[in-house]
Amino acid sequence: MRILVTGKSGQVSQSLQKLATDEEVELIVIGRPEIDFERPYNLEAEIIKIAPDVVISAAAYTMVDKAETDVEIAKKVNSEAPAIIATACKYLDIPLLHLSTDYVYSGEKIGAYVELDAANPKSVYGKTKLDGENAIASIYPNHVILRTAWVYSPFGKNFVKTMLALGESRDEISVVADQFGCPSSAMEIAKALIKIAKKVCSEKNDDLRGVFHIAGRGETNWSGFAKEIFELSGMNVKVNEIPSAAYPTPAVRPTNSRLDCDKLWDLYKIELPLWQDSLKECLKILKYTS
Ligand SMILES: NC(=O)c1ccc[n+]([C@@H]2O[C@H](COP(=O)([O-])OP(=O)(O)OC[C@H]3O[C@@H](n4cnc5c(N)ncnc54)[C@H](OP(=O)(O)O)[C@@H]3O)[C@@H](O)[C@H]2O)c1
Repeated sequence: MRILVTGKSGQVSQSLQKLATDEEVELIVIGRPEIDFERPYNLEAEIIKIAPDVVISAAAYTMVDKAETDVEIAKKVNSEAPAIIATACKYLDIPLLHLSTDYVYSGEKIGAYVELDAANPKSVYGKTKLDGENAIASIYPNHVILRTAWVYSPFGKNFVKTMLALGESRDEISVVADQFGCPSSAMEIAKALIKIAKKVCSEKNDDLRGVFHIAGRGETNWSGFAKEIFELSGMNVKVNEIPSAAYPTPAVRPTNSRLDCDKLWDLYKIELPLWQDSLKECLKILKYTS
C-alpha cells in the first residue's frame, strides 16, 4: 500500500516514517520547502502525480497561541489546504485520512465528548481546524476525520519534552490543573492510522467514513500529566497545581476535551493503550526510563 503523508517533521509524520518499514507500506512524505500550504499552488498536482492508494493529512498549523494573531496563515494551512487535498483525493478516488483536534470542542460538556456532540471551538486554531474538517466533508465523502488530543512523541516539540527540559534545571514547577484531556502518543496514533488506512482501502462500508475520536485511554489534567512524566523518569520535581487563570495564554483552551473513543473501537476494533503505558514507551525511547 502506498501512503502519502503531508508534513515532514511533524510528530505523527515522523512516527509514521519510523513505523513504515515494519508495516510493509511505502510511505511518500510531502511538505516544506517544496510544498508549502501557505502557497499551495502545486499541492493538488503533486498528490495527483504521486497517485497514492491513500492520503494521511497530518500537516497543520499547530501553534495554538500564535494562531490567535497569525489568523490568515492558520486559515490557509488548516482550512484551505485540506480542501485542496480532498479535491485531489476525489480526483484519484482514494480515501483521505485527516487529523483534527479536541480543540474543536468548547470544553463546557460534563463528561467525555462523543463525535455527535456539537463542535464550538473557542480558539483560532480550533476554528480553522473545524473549517478544514467541514471543507473536506463538503467536497468528498470518502474521508476519515480523526480528532486527537494532547499529542506527544520522541520527535519535535511537545509537553513531555518541555517538562523533561524544565525538570533538568528546576526542582519545582507550576502546571495548570483545571484542563482535562487525554494525552495521546503519536507512535500509537501512527500504528492506528496504518490499520485504518488498510481497512478503508479494502472496504467500501460508509460507516467506516466520517468523524472519529482517537486518543490515549484514560484521562488527566496537565498537572497530572507532568507528575506522571517526572515520576516515570525518576526526576525529583515538585508539581504545584495552579488554575488556568494563573497562567493566562492568548488562546482559550477547553476546560474539558476528553474524547470518547468508543466509535473507533466499535467500527475498527482499534483502541489506543492507557496514556501512562504509552508515556513510558516514549520515555524509554528518550532514555529517561528503562
Ligand atoms: N500536537 C498536538 O498536541 C495535537 C493535538 C490535537 C490534534 N493535533 C493534530 O494532529 C495532527 C498532527 O499533529 P503533530 O503534533 O504531528 O504536528 P506537529 O508536530 O506540530 O507538526 C506540524 C506539521 O505540519 C507541517 N506544516 C506546518 N505548516 C505547514 C505549511 N505551511 N506547509 C506545509 N506543512 C506545514 C509541519 O511541517 P514541517 O515538517 O515543514 O515543519 C509539520 O510537519 C495535526 O493535524 C494537528 O492539528 C495535534
